[in-house]
Amino acid sequence: MIELIVARSKNNVIGKNGQIPWRIKGEQKQFKELTTGNVVIMGRKSYEEIGHPLPNRKNIVVSSSKNFDGDNLVTAHSLKEALELAGNQDIFIAGGYGLFKEAIGIVDKMYITEVDIEIEDGDTLFPEFNSEEFDLIEGEVGGDEIKYRRTLYIRKTKVNDNE
Ligand SMILES: NC(=O)c1ccc[n+]([C@@H]2O[C@H](COP(=O)([O-])OP(=O)(O)OC[C@H]3O[C@@H](n4cnc5c(N)ncnc54)[C@H](OP(=O)(O)O)[C@@H]3O)[C@@H](O)[C@H]2O)c1
Repeated sequence: MIELIVARSKNNVIGKNGQIPWRIKGEQKQFKELTTGNVVIMGRKSYEEIGHPLPNRKNIVVSSSKNFDGDNLVTAHSLKEALELAGNQDIFIAGGYGLFKEAIGIVDKMYITEVDIEIEDGDTLFPEFNSEEFDLIEGEVGGDEIKYRRTLYIRKTKVNDNE
């Protein structure tokens, strides 16, 4: 199963100045719960922002300029290579923009946390996608001063054109 996990603002921002432009207690809990024991694929900049491999899961960093390796840490030079390295566990594409854009056409599920904030001058957006290709399940609301809602997009079963 190939999945994608992201949090985006009301105006579709996911990053600003190399960081996620909000801090909300509990917002990243779902990321940890879903990805622990599985595989996380992320772009080089996102990995460098975190600064270390995420524990108890396989970290695959996609980069054409650098090589990272270590315990539960490998580098791939393309999304395709990353998927090949992932093996049979659940795979979570964790951003940023380029990997999301490339993966949106092949993911089975997208965990999108909709953060109730407008970010001015965001420099990294979540790519546009055709929501009609997915069923949408709305989940819990959480947060403090800034609220968020969990949503899950599940790809609709493709109908075989020949039938
Ligand atoms: N809100 C969220 O859920 C969320 C999630 C993730 C990230 N973010 C934010 O998004 C921003 C970072 O995202 P970003 O889009 O700027 O960068 P990114 O995707 O994290 O990293 C981009 C780099 O990844 C490598 N890369 C990506 N696709 C590749 C491919 N197909 N083949 C080879 N290399 C590839 C390249 O590294 P090389 O230059 O080394 O070749 C590229 O420069 C930060 O602000 C971060 O906080 C937010």
